Amino acid sequence: MFNATQVKTLQQDSIKWLSFSDGEITIDNIEELRNILRFHEHRYYVESDPVITDFEYDTIFKKLQTFEAANPLCITKDSPTQRVGVGLIKNFPKVQHLVPMLSLDNSYSADDLIDFDRKVRELSGIENIEYCIEPKFDGASISLVYENDTLLKGITRGDGEVGDDITPNIYQIRSIPLKAKLSLFGIEQIEIRGEVLINKSNFAKYNNGLIEEGLPPMANPRNAAAGTLRMKDSTLVAKRNLEAFLYHVSYSFVGKESLEEAKKPIYNLPTTHSGFLEMLWQLGFKSPKKEMKVTHGIAEVIKYINEFEVGRDALPYEIDGMVIKVNDIALQDKLGMTSHHPRWAIAYKFKARQATSKLLAVDFQLGRTGAVTPVAKIAASQVGGVTVTSISIHNEDYIKEKNLKIGDTILIERSGDVIPQIVKSLPELRTGEEKNIEFPTHCPMCNDTLVRPNGEAVWRCVNINCEAQVVERIIHFVSKDAMDIKSFGEANVRKFYTMGIIKNVPSIYKLNDTMFIGIEGFGEKSIVNLIDGIEASKQQPLHRLIYGLGIRYVGENTAKTLVRNIDDIFELSTKNIDELKKMDDVGVKVADSITAFFKNEDNIIMLKHLQALGLQMKSIKKEIAEGGLSGQTFLFTGTLNKLKRSDAEAMVEEKAGKILSGVSSKLNYLVVGEDAGSKLEKAKKIQTINIISEDEFIELVNG
Ligand code: IVH
Repeated sequence: MFNATQVKTLQQDSIKWLSFSDGEITIDNIEELRNILRFHEHRYYVESDPVITDFEYDTIFKKLQTFEAANPLCITKDSPTQRVGVGLIKNFPKVQHLVPMLSLDNSYSADDLIDFDRKVRELSGIENIEYCIEPKFDGASISLVYENDTLLKGITRGDGEVGDDITPNIYQIRSIPLKAKLSLFGIEQIEIRGEVLINKSNFAKYNNGLIEEGLPPMANPRNAAAGTLRMKDSTLVAKRNLEAFLYHVSYSFVGKESLEEAKKPIYNLPTTHSGFLEMLWQLGFKSPKKEMKVTHGIAEVIKYINEFEVGRDALPYEIDGMVIKVNDIALQDKLGMTSHHPRWAIAYKFKARQATSKLLAVDFQLGRTGAVTPVAKIAASQVGGVTVTSISIHNEDYIKEKNLKIGDTILIERSGDVIPQIVKSLPELRTGEEKNIEFPTHCPMCNDTLVRPNGEAVWRCVNINCEAQVVERIIHFVSKDAMDIKSFGEANVRKFYTMGIIKNVPSIYKLNDTMFIGIEGFGEKSIVNLIDGIEASKQQPLHRLIYGLGIRYVGENTAKTLVRNIDDIFELSTKNIDELKKMDDVGVKVADSITAFFKNEDNIIMLKHLQALGLQMKSIKKEIAEGGLSGQTFLFTGTLNKLKRSDAEAMVEEKAGKILSGVSSKLNYLVVGEDAGSKLEKAKKIQTINIISEDEFIELVNG
């Protein structure tokens, strides 16, 4: 889409725009500003290789927003600011696809593919067919219509003939360009097909959020993507971070006749499918250009498919097979379609990640918030390479919705790294012997009466001293994403609790080595490791402590948001619901839960206790303001614009911070200037490094 010189110019221009004052933006240069933002959207969402920081992007974006707000007449439909939600959508209008969206014929074995190739050769009279192979993306299919270089409509597949116009939601998918220079190819109108996906890590985050809220998670990323596309509130769609691969041009109208000389196309339309994927990529669409392969003959096809399947789990998104397409468009046209599928393409389906099993029994487990979770014990089944014997079935409503009974035959699925789920039960196979799942009325641990709070889906034990909850809270506190106390896993917590060595969170910090002498499995070395791990965890940043407290609805991201708004944990305890709600992404539910947590005197006493035991209670921001950068390490990369490198380094050292010579896990901050190279790449792979811009650095150092 951009050649090396253009990229350099756009990068330099970005810096220029960053420093522009609002008054320097005019109707004459506004499109240049939009193009800068489009370029960065493309780097981030299509290439996954941003060249400026989020902060810098937001700064430029806000300049455009401010200008457009003051000059509403010059807002264009394809302006990057127009991706913001449009409020609630009442109904999605029905629209006819320009060309019916057909399905694909399926194949499951090399023999099926050999058969497909034989038919193609017979029908075409050509011996050695050129094929283009690409992943079969497991998402929700869409079609996009562009007219005069601008996105006009995004439509669901529907029944193949008529789909739903979901354009406002399509605007929320940042890898779909709102503007594309299709006119370079003489194209006035085009219909492009593709698949909307939610990648594995966003899917896991989304499901964790649902579980945290006591709601049932989605069975797989495909359902999550399809469900999101049909949401009525497009601002919520934006939060799910959908992406889209575009893989097929089903219709294009080249209005050559009507074009004036000045508008004559610069490039000819491709004559191959791979050429179209290349064209789409060049125009800024995320096509499977990098994933596709052009081969000759079916043997090579089979080889590539097998190679690709090996790497399937390592992909960031789900695929359920590969699609093999005749590459030559003229030959595609000659082969034509049946009423169901094109004769020039076939899907090859990978081994299913679904299996049938039997629901044998249901156990009820108690979590750290007192929630009682039913867990289905199922007949051992192989799904996606692992043996599954138990599956969480979440809550009472879920059991009803899925119509589950003990003894049922069930369909289970495990996609990628995602925890196994029940897709559905098969009531048609019931014998009459099946039994209803009875929910307990009392806590399986302390026998207190369970309650189901209004508006919630879970039954809870509300006895805060219920031992099972205490243990679960400690397990959560020491866990990897919370305080990450090395060598202190779940099994040890249970063991130490049963032995009476620990009884609550603060008691962890009162442990000393003599207390472990004589405990089976604890030699000198493991005792040293354990005590060192406990000691080191005292310095964990505040957001980990907050997350570790296990406040309902406060996940890792919320904990980070909270810390950005406070100096220390005791400041958080004084915030009221309104103050909390002003923070990004903190809704009424989260705010309620935080205030309820701090209203409980026992929790404040526990925090004071932890403070006295030496845990970090202040935010990093506060630490720096008080004690400089002591203990913090920095490295600079790329060209700085406002500071000389040596001055910036001196600023760090003046505040007792340290400059490192290379990227390693010891690094706390990488400050990124213009043209940053391999250091940035390396730092992106180490999660604990904070990558910040020059402006963010200045803000940090100056408190
Ligand atoms: S081509 C006329 N290519 O699979 C041919 N489809 O099972 C149009 N799909 O409805 C389809 N990845 O939603 C094509 N690389 C790919 C695909 C793909 C996923 C979906 C598509 C289609 C379904 C058929």
